[in-house]
Amino acid sequence: MRKMAKTLGILEDKDRIFTNLYGFQDWGLEGAKQRGCWNATKDILSYGREWIITNVKNSGLRGRGGAGFSTGLKWSFMPKEVKERPHYLVVNADESEPGTCKDREIMRHDPHLLIEGCLIASFAMQAHACYIYLRGEYVFERERLEAAVKQAYEAGLIGKNNVHGWDFDVYVHHGAGAYICGEETALLESLEGKKGQPRLKPPFPAGAGLYGCPTTVNNVESIAVVGTILRRGAEWFAGFGAPNNTGTKLFCISGHVERPCNVEEAMSIPFRQLIEDHCGGIRGGWGNLKAVIPGGSSVPMIPAEQCENLPMDFDSLRALRSGLGTAAVIVMDKSTDLIRAIARLSYFYKHESCGQCTPCREGTGWMWRVMERMVKGDADPSEIDMLLEVTTQVEGHTICALGDAAAWPIQGLIRHFRHEIEDRITLYRSRKSNVAGHSIAAE
Ligand SMILES: Cc1cc2nc3c(=O)[nH]c(=O)nc-3n(C[C@H](O)[C@H](O)[C@H](O)COP(=O)(O)O)c2cc1C
Ligand code: SF4
Repeated sequence: MRKMAKTLGILEDKDRIFTNLYGFQDWGLEGAKQRGCWNATKDILSYGREWIITNVKNSGLRGRGGAGFSTGLKWSFMPKEVKERPHYLVVNADESEPGTCKDREIMRHDPHLLIEGCLIASFAMQAHACYIYLRGEYVFERERLEAAVKQAYEAGLIGKNNVHGWDFDVYVHHGAGAYICGEETALLESLEGKKGQPRLKPPFPAGAGLYGCPTTVNNVESIAVVGTILRRGAEWFAGFGAPNNTGTKLFCISGHVERPCNVEEAMSIPFRQLIEDHCGGIRGGWGNLKAVIPGGSSVPMIPAEQCENLPMDFDSLRALRSGLGTAAVIVMDKSTDLIRAIARLSYFYKHESCGQCTPCREGTGWMWRVMERMVKGDADPSEIDMLLEVTTQVEGHTICALGDAAAWPIQGLIRHFRHEIEDRITLYRSRKSNVAGHSIAAE
């Protein structure tokens, strides 16, 4: 008798937006059209800007770049009329958050979903030009994306006098590999040819963005899902996940699972189901789980005991003082030296700080140096609170959120695993006194 295949996860294949996520099919225009992309795009535009923005709002789509802000609402902040300054859409394809590797797959395997989304979003915000800013290391993705853009031009889907009746140009711009250029205003500076340093806000990009013109910056995934949402209806998308946390979502799962993967799932899928159905479980079994960084390196870790039935969405993770971030789920089993892992992240933030604000420039270096001593245990127990205090002085006191991103992983470590830091200090001290004792005895 044939065995019935076990249903994996919550999302059924018929409800996937990224049907070529793994690149098994043709990435090009023909393949994309067969999968439904560029289908009825003209009809969508014919319903008008208000209809598009209202439906994106109603779908509940929240930005997939980390902050989770309502995409439709963000679009509605753009001026209603185009005056002397042109409007722009800028797509954030910088994808530098450690653990995150989802936008890469979209650009490699389903680039037309992104290009179609760019056209629809730009039309809704009255932009005739869109810039896609790609991470420096993404050479293959740039080549693939440029080839897809060329196909779209040649087929008259974009460009002047295109079949959709909205003149529209797409420019692919390659960054130089700085994490900070993923921050939207640093990205705009870099795109303008300047040093990639965040701008003070306000003004926000919708008022003064690229070249001082009204601009909306959106993540690749936020834009790539728009065509399918509008084709299938806002209610369809809103039907997945918990209220206020709707839709399907790409999760990037790495670390100590049997099979790390990227997978599109329903928002709010319980953590354990996500890991067991798609990743073959935790390495060494569920009991071997120690902690999880659920949303890319910037969000605080959560301990194993909080993970089991945890809905993987913005609000549930926020309630645990962590975040969904980019949905890059970094799983750590009991073999992990958590102090060392966080010290490595501290080094990353120190290295990537642009240096404009004193708390971040000085604080990231200071926190990293203390963390390095904590790894060895070469610290005084009172320094744990001092370190925590410094994280709160950096958090919320800087121009951009890199300062918060540097503070939060350390806060998560101290919140849940203070005892490990204390034990490390005790061990270090006991070894040191033993060594000292031996040397006295030898004398
Ligand atoms: C230090 C830093 C790095 C960031 N890197 C990225 C990135 O690589 N990709 C991205 O989409 N958003 C990144 N963001 C968030 C962007 O500033 C912005 O919120 C996002 O592109 C908005 O898109 P969304 O509304 O579609 O999520 C970063 C933010 C900070 C503070
Ligand atoms: S917080 Fe850090 S990265 Fe952001 S602007 Fe200030 S110094 Fe630069």
